[in-house]
Amino acid sequence: VDGTVRETPGTRQGGDPTGDPGRPDFDLTDEELRATGNAKWSYPPPDTLPAWVAEMDVRPCPPVHAALREATERFTVGYPAPDRVTGLREATAGFLTERFGWRVDPDLVVGTGDVMAGMRLTLEVLCERAPVVVPVPSYPPFLELPELTGRELVRVPCTRDAAGRPTLDVGRIAAALGDGARTVLLANPHNPLGRAFDPAELGALRDVVDRVGGRVISDEIHAPLVLAGARHLPYAALDGTADHVTTVLAASKAWNVPGLKCAQIVAGTAADARRLRSAPLTANHGTSPLGIVATVAAYTAGGPWLDGVLEHLDRMRELFGTLLADRLPAASWTPPEATYLAWVDASATGALQAADRALAVGRVMVNPGRSFGAADTWFRVNLATSAERLTRVVDRLAAALTAGGAPPRG
Ligand SMILES: Cc1ncc(COP(=O)(O)O)c(C=O)c1O
Repeated sequence: VDGTVRETPGTRQGGDPTGDPGRPDFDLTDEELRATGNAKWSYPPPDTLPAWVAEMDVRPCPPVHAALREATERFTVGYPAPDRVTGLREATAGFLTERFGWRVDPDLVVGTGDVMAGMRLTLEVLCERAPVVVPVPSYPPFLELPELTGRELVRVPCTRDAAGRPTLDVGRIAAALGDGARTVLLANPHNPLGRAFDPAELGALRDVVDRVGGRVISDEIHAPLVLAGARHLPYAALDGTADHVTTVLAASKAWNVPGLKCAQIVAGTAADARRLRSAPLTANHGTSPLGIVATVAAYTAGGPWLDGVLEHLDRMRELFGTLLADRLPAASWTPPEATYLAWVDASATGALQAADRALAVGRVMVNPGRSFGAADTWFRVNLATSAERLTRVVDRLAAALTAGGAPPRG
């Protein structure tokens, strides 16, 4: 998997079939998607529908695609130029201010290879050598990161609030901090729960972290993917967090370029930025020049296309709910406020290993609950595809998880 965006000769470029060139086109065929060579479509066998890893089934955003084409024409494939000359810092700060009203000093932005590399660097450079709290269910690599840096992992299960929404269990996070943990890995918005945390939830976290002099690494990679009805509050935009927060984000989810390797760390203070920048090159060297080019194009010219993506994802969220209620009513879910990922509870279907059964019987690949530190009666479904394919995905899930269901023919 090389992560490049290839085009099949004779296919449309970026725009949708209605002829609007800025509108995202999710109507690719299975064959076109397989031809990209990307992980989502290459990993499963050809008879299996992929609804797993967080990549979208969409044609490239035209301004991003154009910037990449021009950069490859110029052969911009050497070692990347420093952030201060590429425009990455200014583009990141400008996007964060414009989109979320979060005023960021470009000097606080530090380029890194990807979000997980940025989180690892932050842990190693800025965080105490003490246990690390990870709320579960969790994006799987968070569960590996503490140990990788020589720190103990403390899993803290999420809970439900009075309204029934999944939320952080701040009481138990406080207890873990009281027992010696000093860092919290936050995903805001959350994968796989799909929550865009509100000021009260984030404020409660800030207070318990502040009390022990701990730190928060806030992974905001899904921030551009907050859907209608919710808003993204950057943790660092909250009063009283600057001294303990480091934010890591990337254009890679929202503009579908995760193979290009470019993420951004936003330090909480100038002193933190200095410490991060003074890490040896071998600790932070993964940014690619094409990733920088794509990111600058996405942040400066990719807004209208992103808005089209959000409209589409809102429709897919609704469609998934309708299809699930109709074809697999024993499954339950809380529709996500952000991300294009649905976290589904299949315990009432009786399937103890729901994702494995979906793969074996339904030939549809979704992510099993165990990967997120949850029970395998849960699974995660990727909704970022066409309505037609999402319907096939739910049909296959229903065939696999309905008692006596027969393997699908289509
Ligand atoms: C919460 C979260 N963080 C990080 C990543 C991956 O980021 P990267 O590939 O930049 O490490 C993902 C990918 O889906 C994610 O959902």
